[in-house]
Amino acid sequence: GSPPLDELIASLAVDIPDFPQPGVVFRDLTPVFADGDAFRRMVEGLAAPSLVDPRAAALATPGTGDPGFDVVVGVEARGFLLAAAVALQAGVGVVPVRKAGKLPRERLSADYALEYGTATLEVHTDSLTPGQRVLLVDDVLATGGTLAASVSLIEALGGVVVAVSVVIELTDLGGRQRLAPHAVHALWNT
Ligand code: PRP
Ligand code: ADE
Repeated sequence: GSPPLDELIASLAVDIPDFPQPGVVFRDLTPVFADGDAFRRMVEGLAAPSLVDPRAAALATPGTGDPGFDVVVGVEARGFLLAAAVALQAGVGVVPVRKAGKLPRERLSADYALEYGTATLEVHTDSLTPGQRVLLVDDVLATGGTLAASVSLIEALGGVVVAVSVVIELTDLGGRQRLAPHAVHALWNT
């Protein structure tokens, strides 16, 4: 039979010491994305935080096909690979949070720090409507700086983050605590 999803991800991911800077162990997920079975199961898992997260399940309307969110927000760049697929799986649309300088129209910006640097994220101000339920998706939760900045942008537009779904949570870096009280759904905790 096929292994549990966390074991499958763990078996395909590759650890790269000292990338992109000394002291960081980079978790390269490209082989997981490249595997058709792993990719499909990852997308299904990310789209269904209610399967493991009772707080997200409580927001879905049973029997209606409502996944519990109205839109998926994905974070450039690796988050894009997942967010679009998750949105398709759930039958909703996808909104990009982009690195600075890429979005052409009126936008909000947030500066942030991540495990290995600093950057700025942006979102179009008309990309969410107040009260819209958002599933926020990315590949890796490390310090949580990236996703905390994304949450602040979403909430500034009136969006309601019902869950944050990631493939890997680097537990020791404390990202989950930083994102509290938002529910974090991780397919693999390491
Ligand atoms: C990576 C990853 C997450 C973020 C996590 O993105 O895809 O978005 O770091 O780190 P944090 O929890 O410490 O904030 P990166 O900025 O390297 O960009 P990329 O997706 O364009 O490779
Ligand atoms: N983003 C932030 N920290 C990371 C890590 N250790 N591996 C992969 N992506 C990351």
